[in-house]
Amino acid sequence: MSITILGIESSCDDTSAAIIRDCVLASNVIASQKVHEAYGGVVPELASRAHQQNIVPVVSEAIRQAGIDKKDLNAIAFTRGPGLLGSLLVGTSFAKGLSIALEVPIIDVNHLHGHVLSHFIKEDENTVVPDFPFLCLLVSGGNSQIIKVSSPYQMEILGQTIDDAAGEAFDKCAKVMGLPYPGGPYIDRLAAEGDAERFKFSKPHIPKLDYSFSGLKTSFLYTLRDEIAKNPDFIEQNKTDLAASLQKTIIDILMDKFAIAVKETGIKTIAIGGGVSANSGFRNRVQEFADEHGLKAFIPKRSFTTDNAAMVAVAGYFKYLNKDFCSLDLPPYARVSL
Ligand code: KG4
Repeated sequence: MSITILGIESSCDDTSAAIIRDCVLASNVIASQKVHEAYGGVVPELASRAHQQNIVPVVSEAIRQAGIDKKDLNAIAFTRGPGLLGSLLVGTSFAKGLSIALEVPIIDVNHLHGHVLSHFIKEDENTVVPDFPFLCLLVSGGNSQIIKVSSPYQMEILGQTIDDAAGEAFDKCAKVMGLPYPGGPYIDRLAAEGDAERFKFSKPHIPKLDYSFSGLKTSFLYTLRDEIAKNPDFIEQNKTDLAASLQKTIIDILMDKFAIAVKETGIKTIAIGGGVSANSGFRNRVQEFADEHGLKAFIPKRSFTTDNAAMVAVAGYFKYLNKDFCSLDLPPYARVSL
């Protein structure tokens, strides 16, 4: 018998619902919230309100696109955290209400597990998925982690950022350059036209497999401040080289530690995930690294790098197989590790 799961994601500023049948994707609907652009960042209260407006049409559309009836659902998986509490409450409450109405179990999903397990979303029966164990470099606006994934249920953080995440480094530096929020995709586009060797920014020296991006942000800020003092048009005249050099530095920092993790563990399958894994330079570098070292690399489709419910549904599917359901009284959580 095949298992059909509805996934619901509402941890930040995307309202998403997806249907999977035995890991094969039947639909994945995402309503992104444009309202935050004017504020240069996500405004939690506005995000919650937009989720309230979007959740019913988004779930209905996911069910319609999958060509199923809601009575065909075996379970409802929802992001329980981490994320913005008001946003999480919308998805969590909706999942609970629908589960009571349909008399199906609910499954709470850790958003970070979802990103890691996004590699198991099958577009069709022939999609190749990673073997266990694999090493996943999870890089988003809130996390930069090297994770050893031994099974869908067993994940170990080998290293993580001690301050800013890689996505924050992209966004904060982009903001200093006067680019819109979130700045990561703008840096990516500008970097394609620039000289990545033109500017040098400081790289952290911290032990083990941990990351730090706060020093890079300061180094970038000071470079701009000093150059603007000499030439007020410095940013405009050098924006592609600045973006390319910044992007290269972030990728260097990420890959230096990831390479050590690969060497130390001897694991031959690698993967990336999270919003920053949409970055073109990063994707190319990971593939080159894998080719050089004879590794198998899993680089997600761009639509699965951002917050999406397909990854929540897949993570829920694995928990369903273990009959790992949650009770209706579980609250969402804003912060949690893997
Ligand atoms: O995983 P995600 O969608 O959500 C949160 O962590 O909240 O990641 C968002 C992050 C942002 O920092 C954004 O700038 C970054 O992913 N990002 C990118 C690119 N696309 C999204 N960073 C660099 N290059 C990109 N193409």
